[in-house]
Amino acid sequence: MAGTEKQPVTGAGPFNGVLTWVDQRFPLMQLWREHLAEYYAPKNFNFWYYFGSLAILVLVIQIATGIFLVMHYKPDAAQAFASVEYIMRDVTGGWLIRYMHSTGASAFFIVVYLHMFRGLLYGSYRQPRELIWLFGMIIYLCLMAEAFFGYLLPWGQMSYWGAQVIVNLFDAIPLIGPDLALWIRGDYVVSDATLNRFFSFHVIAIPLVLLGLVAAHIMALHEVGSNNPDGIEIKKLKDPETGRPVDGIPFHPYYTVKDIMGAVFFLIIFCVVMFFMPEFGGYFLEYNNFIPADPLKTPAHIAPVWYFTPYYSILRATTETFMWVLAAGVIGYSALIIQAVGARAVRLAVAAIAVLLLVGFFTIDPKVWGVVLMGAAVLIFALLPWLDRSPVKSIRYRGPLFKGALAVFVLVFIVLGYFGTQPVTTEGTLLSQIGTLIYFAFFLLMPWYTRMDKTRPEPSRVTWEGAH
Ligand code: HEM
Repeated sequence: MAGTEKQPVTGAGPFNGVLTWVDQRFPLMQLWREHLAEYYAPKNFNFWYYFGSLAILVLVIQIATGIFLVMHYKPDAAQAFASVEYIMRDVTGGWLIRYMHSTGASAFFIVVYLHMFRGLLYGSYRQPRELIWLFGMIIYLCLMAEAFFGYLLPWGQMSYWGAQVIVNLFDAIPLIGPDLALWIRGDYVVSDATLNRFFSFHVIAIPLVLLGLVAAHIMALHEVGSNNPDGIEIKKLKDPETGRPVDGIPFHPYYTVKDIMGAVFFLIIFCVVMFFMPEFGGYFLEYNNFIPADPLKTPAHIAPVWYFTPYYSILRATTETFMWVLAAGVIGYSALIIQAVGARAVRLAVAAIAVLLLVGFFTIDPKVWGVVLMGAAVLIFALLPWLDRSPVKSIRYRGPLFKGALAVFVLVFIVLGYFGTQPVTTEGTLLSQIGTLIYFAFFLLMPWYTRMDKTRPEPSRVTWEGAH
């Protein structure tokens, strides 16, 4: 801390001299104490608290394996596909590195989705942790961009046509769309120029930003302190003598050891998938991507990788008839807000926005609204800290309304994800449309149902198994 005397390195280890020398020139021990040995974390962390450290582990795996892949990969439309085959067949251990990286990509999303779900379970996004959540949201967006850019690199049929479909979405934006799509591709179709720029973003630009964001995410967390499964603030009850939270334990050694155990379990599952089912039934590595990209032959069924499919379903659900349902939704929702707010100016603004939206719904191509809804479905998570009005944070003390809403939301997310992997059918589209409505209702109605819910009082101390 600025202005305070440096505490000496304690202990009489063989490295004491070196540590003292370093410490006089760099705040090594101070960092160690502030972020590990004297970072007091709630003593009741459970299973859901493994996923933050696991996300760091996967990030390290992706960067380390990525470095080795780049040594042999060729970012050239004429050579990319063959260079991946070369890595798989001829480079010593190349198959292992490649499977670690491809399995790691899906593992990253599994871990991050579970990490975000923990946030929903325990209200970790609530005051004072809004910024941790917002940094997390930007990380999530970067992760999606990273996966999207990386997917073009093997230059298979899915790489090529997936990129084509997604970049063409920008084409639908009024006025600037066609120029924007051309600018992203660097050509009139996905080509060598596109591959080169996606490579550059995938290997350096986005990983750099990701690393910086993860550092900011953890700094923000350590500034306010961790939440916990009871959703109560341990900093409120401190030992008068030591000034430490009575319900806190030092992160090191308690949680470093616990997290190592989580990492071992995770790596066992990771290895089983990587060694025995790296394609994971076509979900982790799509079968069409084992065919080299052919700009003249569109595959019959183009689907993104599983972690994008809930949003892809929302995009495809936005048909011309669905615009009527959306219009009804906008009228209903604006009426709800208008009767809830007192200020005349706000009421007028809401009515004006509703009218503009309604005009837009029937004058602008539904394809554009599909893109808007897909983007909104991702970004709306960022509003959670302000949408949730419950007096309690943790699911343990919430009532049936929130519990039910969260269960339905998870189900809908999975159902949308499933339909996004499937070819379009009438029933699939109908179910995706119902799913899309429920998806947005979960967020947009949250200020109402979280206030109406029958919550239970929070305990004053954290609860944990060893407490009795
Ligand atoms: C590369 C991706 C990410 C990494 C490496 C990462 C890392 C971490 C770590 C190490 C923690 C502390 C340990 C824990 O509470 O589990 C944490 C906490 C947290 N993260 Fe992340 N995170 C990532 C992505 C995200 C995303 C996408 C979100 C949400 C949009 C998010 C939201 C949070 C929140 C709210 C906390 C505080 C949780 C609490 O105290 O209960 N993180 N993160």
